Amino acid sequence: MKRLQSSLMWTPLIASLAISPVAMSAQGPSDIHYDDASKVFRIDAGGVTYAFGINNVNELQPVYWGRQLSSGDAFPATMTEPPAASFDSPATTTLNEYAGWGGGLYVEPALKVTFPDGNRDLVLHYVSHTIKGNELTIMLEDIDRELFVELHYIVDDATGIVGRSAVIMNKTQTPVMIEGAAAATWSLPRGTDYSLRYLTGRWAAEDNLQKQPIHPGETVLESKRGSTGHQNNPWFAIERGDDSDEDTGNVWFGALAWSGSWRITVEQDQLQQIRVTGGFNPFDFGYKLLPGKQLETPVFYGGYSHHGIGGASRLLHRFELTKIVPEAPSLRPRPVIYNSWEATGFNVDEPGQEALAEKAASIGVERFIMDDGWFGQRKDDHAGLGDWYVNQQKFPHGLKPLIDKVHSLGMDFGLWVEPEMVNPDSNLYRKHPDWVLNFTGRPRTEQRNQLVLNLARQDVRDYVYGFLDNLLSHNQIAFLKWDYNRNWSEPGWPAVALDEQKAVYVDYVRNLYGILRELRAKYPNVEIESCSGGGGRVDLGILGLTDEVWPSDNTDPFDRLRIQDGFTYAYTPGVMMAWVTDSPSWANNRTTSVTYRFLSSMQGSLGVGANLNHWAPEEFATAKELIAAYKGIRETVQHGSLYRLVSPENGSEESVTESVSLDKKQGVLFAFLHSSHMGYPFPRVYLRGLDPKIDYRVTAISGALAKGSPSGASGSYWMSHGVDVDLRGDFQAAAFRFDAAGSNPGH
Ligand code: DGJ
Repeated sequence: MKRLQSSLMWTPLIASLAISPVAMSAQGPSDIHYDDASKVFRIDAGGVTYAFGINNVNELQPVYWGRQLSSGDAFPATMTEPPAASFDSPATTTLNEYAGWGGGLYVEPALKVTFPDGNRDLVLHYVSHTIKGNELTIMLEDIDRELFVELHYIVDDATGIVGRSAVIMNKTQTPVMIEGAAAATWSLPRGTDYSLRYLTGRWAAEDNLQKQPIHPGETVLESKRGSTGHQNNPWFAIERGDDSDEDTGNVWFGALAWSGSWRITVEQDQLQQIRVTGGFNPFDFGYKLLPGKQLETPVFYGGYSHHGIGGASRLLHRFELTKIVPEAPSLRPRPVIYNSWEATGFNVDEPGQEALAEKAASIGVERFIMDDGWFGQRKDDHAGLGDWYVNQQKFPHGLKPLIDKVHSLGMDFGLWVEPEMVNPDSNLYRKHPDWVLNFTGRPRTEQRNQLVLNLARQDVRDYVYGFLDNLLSHNQIAFLKWDYNRNWSEPGWPAVALDEQKAVYVDYVRNLYGILRELRAKYPNVEIESCSGGGGRVDLGILGLTDEVWPSDNTDPFDRLRIQDGFTYAYTPGVMMAWVTDSPSWANNRTTSVTYRFLSSMQGSLGVGANLNHWAPEEFATAKELIAAYKGIRETVQHGSLYRLVSPENGSEESVTESVSLDKKQGVLFAFLHSSHMGYPFPRVYLRGLDPKIDYRVTAISGALAKGSPSGASGSYWMSHGVDVDLRGDFQAAAFRFDAAGSNPGH
């Protein structure tokens, strides 16, 4: 199968497809079929079948989504549900792949429009379809007006994950106002035993996993903030029945690739059917579509696993690593980084950073990143954002001496930027006060003393791209930490016509993606981290254009266990940056050993953010040893299969993760004891995912197994008999690697 394009590569792909009045092919390649007799489309990939049909009133009706069916299995033609009562039209009772708001629809529509003559009724009927390789495109049209919707389905062979999106095309003679546009609706059959998992949070407390039964009514997951947000993440998972766990049970999941305001609604309708609709947030939305123009929605990815929520995560991780991240599928390991933020704050200068760089290099750090404070008149967070020139007092000779020093120490150099923001106390704002989001005559609410530049404006886009291009072309920078430290307020765009102002919700994000895409094309070796005051902009949209994300400003290693656990439900540890910082932690005043801090961070992409000027020789020695050990396991941790063996959720006293390399030659186990009670030993841990037939020898990265444990045994032994870890006390941690006999331990 052709490589699935990363979500953000879809734009040119779908824009090139023309409207076709008839079906161009009734039979595609092996994994997408259309059955003429039943009028059912069937997508089979990765052990999953997804099917929907054209029903008796010419609408697209979901049929099946789940474990792959036999190729001989046929579906009957789809039929609308009869009205349950005069209060529930068939439009409401019948599941629909992509419903316009019209014809008596009372559930969430996928598309809501107003025509200039006041008509707000939209009923979408099937017109045609094409099947090309792993892509299915379906054309829908309103029953009366030339408003077309092109539905796209792209399927990934390996995981069975389907990417769905819509292109809304105005072929009428007049503008149409789009008031809400989803990428897709995912549906599941009637049932009262479904439960929903989703992620919630706030600054420094991201990715709390929620689980609740799906009751009649609607659960809304969303951001109205202009960007993805810390509060909800655009990911969901639905399980059925009571017997599902990490490894067993049916799980349907989805993730929306959009970094602006978004919404996912999870509804149980009056017939107990489940509908999950996601796309642009319709709140305050209004996109005027001129005649001949089109609007593309984000992509909403959906998948299914019968291996429980753990299986669902592993599918998503694999999909992200092979299809979404910019380097996919040939991944470079994430380097071990040092970041200056927690050590020096805004007080960066040439000698101070060079001293830190020397110390970082001495423990095996591969990339040195200077955080906030190097530019403009930046002494604290009151000034400087927008003025992207090097501060002369702090760096009298520019950045070159520091960068050269970092290179001479064998590391590459990274730099912090916050391109979309401006402090009112900046030359940029004094010159261009009209460049920020604002409503004329209204207050401009500051958060962290900063305002949001309106990136939807061409002049702002040019400025932002221009300064980044300048920075990258004049300095040897290998990495940008792209920060974004507030959400929108007063999201006005007074420079354009009244009925075009709300397009800011779409155009801003498209320009952000456009800048990232252009920079990546011009500087293919520059890597980028998405940071938004921690994990405020983590989604499959931004991940298509950035190499890693910063999950949280909370670097307390114990809190991080839970944040990282939540993170991995939706995102791979391969993009999860995790720093070792100072103890006691600023977040909780909790004291932990340097080993505990390292082992917590080594479950993701390892970084160091401590003030190395304060470290004792023993801390340097431990750090050096653990960084060296990390380099021997990072391929497995970053790109292997993750098993959450014991979750730190729900007051658990332990937390255990295991990663297994794709070739199953290495397993890596991290075990954390939060607090011992009553002298109980650490519970036995049962490994997963190893090859039962081969022998693995165990090596301690840190800590020890219980006395009498074998130093080598079969995968079957480690998985069935289990592993006894010797841990007692508070905030204790241990880590082990299991290497297949005969494999290179330096792997
Ligand atoms: C917020 C980020 O999350 C921090 O890591 C740091 O870069 C600060 N911004 C700098 O202002």
